[in-house]
Amino acid sequence: MSNLQDSAQRYGAVSRLLHWAMAALLVWQYLTVIVPEGHFLESIVGGTHKSVGLLLMVLVVIRLFWALSNRGRRPASLSVPAMLGHLALYGLMVLIPLLALVRQYGSGRAFEAFGMTIMSGFDGNKIEWMIAPASLLHGNLGWLLLVLIIGHIVMAFLHRRQGDEDVLARMIGR
Ligand code: HEM
Ligand code: HEM
Repeated sequence: MSNLQDSAQRYGAVSRLLHWAMAALLVWQYLTVIVPEGHFLESIVGGTHKSVGLLLMVLVVIRLFWALSNRGRRPASLSVPAMLGHLALYGLMVLIPLLALVRQYGSGRAFEAFGMTIMSGFDGNKIEWMIAPASLLHGNLGWLLLVLIIGHIVMAFLHRRQGDEDVLARMIGR
C-alpha cells in the first residue's frame, strides 16, 4: 500500500501514473491541433480534442486532490522557481479546459464525449460572457502551456545531468 503514496525520496505510484498518463494525453491533445488535414494521424486523433480535453480536466482535478493529500510527504521542490513552475503548470492545466467547457456550455450546443451526454444544450440565445473568455484565452494559454511543458522537460534533464539531485528518478520510480 505504502508505495501508492508519495515519500520524501520519490513520487508514489498514483502520482507517477497521473503524471505520465496526463503527459501522454497532452501529447495526443496537441496532436489534435497540430496535425494537418489529410495527414495519416488525423484519422486517429481527429475529432477527439474536446473529449480528450474533458478527460484531462477530470484527471487534473483528481491529481490536485491527490497532490494536496500528499502535501508534506512528497519530494521537496528543488528550488522556488521549480515550485512556481509546477504551480503554473497546474494553474494552466485547470484553467485551459475549464474555460473551454464553460464556453461549450454557453454556446447552448449539446456536448457528447465517450458516448455520454455531458451537456444537453439549450434553446435560445448563447451566453456571451461564458464564450468570450475562452475565445480570448483558451488557444493562447494552450500554446503557453506547451512552451512551459517544453521548459519543464528541458529542466528535468538538465537537473539530472548536473547530478545535484536526480529529479528524474523521483518521477520515473525505480
Ligand atoms: C488541457 C486541455 C486542453 C488543451 C491543452 C487545449 C489546447 C488547445 C489549443 C492549443 C488550441 C488552439 C489551436 C489553434 O491555435 O488553432 C485549442 C483550441 C480549441 N479547443 Fe482546446 N484544449 C484543451 C481542452 C479543450 C476542451 C475541454 C474543449 C471543449 C470542450 C476544447 C475546445 C477547443 C476549441 C473549440 C478550440 C478552437 C477554438 C479556440 O482556439 O479557442 N479544448 N485548444
Ligand atoms: C517527457 C516529459 C516529462 C518529463 C521527463 C517530466 C519530468 C518530471 C520530473 C522529473 C518531475 C519531478 C520534479 C521534482 O521532483 O522536483 C516532474 C514533476 C512534475 N511534472 Fe513533469 N515531466 C514531463 C512531462 C510533464 C507534462 C506534460 C506535465 C503537464 C503539464 C508535467 C507536469 C509536472 C508537474 C505538475 C510536476 C510536479 C509534481 C506533480 O504534482 O505531479 N510534466 N516531471
